[in-house]
Amino acid sequence: MIIGLGGLLLAGAVPATADDPAAGRKIANMCRTCHGLDGYAKIPIAPHIGGEPKSYLEAQLMAFKTGARQHEMMSVVAAGLSAQQIADVASWYAAHEVTAELPSGTDPAGAPQACVSCHGADGLALFKDAPNLAGETNIYIDTQLKAFKRGKRKHEIMSAIAAEMSDDEIRDAADWYAAVKLTVKPVR
Ligand code: HEC
Ligand code: HEC
Repeated sequence: MIIGLGGLLLAGAVPATADDPAAGRKIANMCRTCHGLDGYAKIPIAPHIGGEPKSYLEAQLMAFKTGARQHEMMSVVAAGLSAQQIADVASWYAAHEVTAELPSGTDPAGAPQACVSCHGADGLALFKDAPNLAGETNIYIDTQLKAFKRGKRKHEIMSAIAAEMSDDEIRDAADWYAAVKLTVKPVR
């Protein structure tokens, strides 16, 4: 399956228009009170978006814009952005490098086994269509898993996984990834 997704990514890698991270940086002034200028979130309900794959960020912003994903704040933000602005701001945040560190003394083998193949033990995603979970707040992770479980947010892989999870399993997975320390390096 991962090979199949890789093929899709290659096919989608040729951009229709060039992205401009410098233009994206200016647009990011509209995002910084919640996501930070570097993508390290400032409020607990907003996710860290620095260093996420550009394709993921763009897909989520388009989903908010079309209504496929809904959120009282983000639906309004995305509605006001053109496709080009979305590509630009996505490339700005994607240009950041992130590192993740498990709490000292934590054995990576304790990571939720159902998640590590895609999201890693430390929450840095292992393939481009999957987002990082490292250092997201447990409230954010919990909210998203319950949204997948209840059909409020839809994705062929995650809806199926979340549907099988109990509230306790959701809380355990959220606690594991929330305990990771995420660092966003400044863009040179
Ligand atoms: C008022 C606060 C606020 C502002 C301003 C804001 N966001 Fe958000 N953003 C949020 C919240 C809260 C969520 C989580 C939504 C949810 O729970 O589904 C979110 C989610 C996202 C996501 C989905 C990330 C993921 O991991 O799935 C992206 C991408 C995003 N925002 C990009 C942006 C960009 C780009 C801007 C500026 C153009 C912006 N946001 C402005 C609060 C904000
Ligand atoms: C086969 C790969 C795969 C596995 C296994 C997997 N995920 Fe995901 N996950 C994804 C993909 C792909 C997305 C992006 C969904 C989208 O585009 O909306 C995602 C999205 C998420 C999100 C939303 C993050 C955000 O920033 O909005 C959370 C939370 C999440 N996964 C948690 C988990 C947990 C917890 C597990 C283990 C119980 C898990 N996932 C297992 C592939 C996977």
